[in-house]
Amino acid sequence: MSMRHSVASRPIEASRAAFAEDVAFYLTESPRQLPSRYLYDDLGSSLFEAICRLPWYRVAKIEQALLRAHAASIFGRLPAISTVVELGPGSGEKLLTLMAAAPRPDVTVHLVDVSPAALDQAAIGLATLPSLTLVAHESTYLEGLRAALGRPGAAGGGALVVFLGSNIGNFDPPAVDDFLQGVRDALGAGGALLLGTDLVKPEADLLLAYDDPLGVTAAFNLNLLVRVNRELGGDFDVRQFEHRAIWNARESRVEMHLVSRRPQRVQVKEPGIDITFDAGELIWTESSYKYRAEDLAPLLARAGFRLAGQWLEAGFALTLARAV
Ligand code: TRP
Repeated sequence: MSMRHSVASRPIEASRAAFAEDVAFYLTESPRQLPSRYLYDDLGSSLFEAICRLPWYRVAKIEQALLRAHAASIFGRLPAISTVVELGPGSGEKLLTLMAAAPRPDVTVHLVDVSPAALDQAAIGLATLPSLTLVAHESTYLEGLRAALGRPGAAGGGALVVFLGSNIGNFDPPAVDDFLQGVRDALGAGGALLLGTDLVKPEADLLLAYDDPLGVTAAFNLNLLVRVNRELGGDFDVRQFEHRAIWNARESRVEMHLVSRRPQRVQVKEPGIDITFDAGELIWTESSYKYRAEDLAPLLARAGFRLAGQWLEAGFALTLARAV
């Protein structure tokens, strides 16, 4: 395996400055927020892997089963793919399942993730397919995708973007269109997108997936405060916040919050903020939009993609689309 590391990675100081800037901005918004990409430090990535093994969080398991069953058929619907880019590979297990069925063994695989721990783990797994060329990008999605594919359309229809884990659900409605349009533009005509999407299901199932009886999801969410304390000199009293997941049916999304248990004051040194929380006041950390299967073709069409295949199972959709 050949491995170039962190093509688009930023020096640690620059990423910490960006983190501080985001915390200063989002934590003082109304409602207070923290961007979900900061959930994935080393501990956060491990906790997320644990979430994927919980019986109540079924996205990862169903997706893995769908890929195992249909990977060959997915490649069968595409022209010779020479470049695969996965956005947010996490542990890399799903990509390994997909790539094991690739008709051409000599593909270049780009991994784009904000978590260096996830990149390392995914690279180790993919090393079991020795003819792949692997490039890791420590980066946000579109920045990494552009670094991977070069000038828009340069891949000439030979590229496949893989976006799984229902991470598409973490974009709000206007941003989801911009994101898909960005993917379409980077790919150029003929390029392909494999999209994993969690679908609307009964509220009780959705809430168990995002607020599990073992408290792993609560730990994952609360770890964001631990990270702010460690990296930016915050003094969050983590025990005085609690995890809460709610199903917002009108917006078709699960919302993840951290709720202040009592009135309290929090200071964060690096951006220099000093804020007070009321009892019950929220920090909104993530939304996870749930789609209906029939919403996906129009969503993709708006961004310039045509459906090339769709596999449904147990409230989950795996969708293959081609850029027109
Ligand atoms: N993209 C995943 C999802 O929306 C991430 C996720 C799973 C998550 N569980 C979470 C994010 C709990 C925040 C809190 O399904």
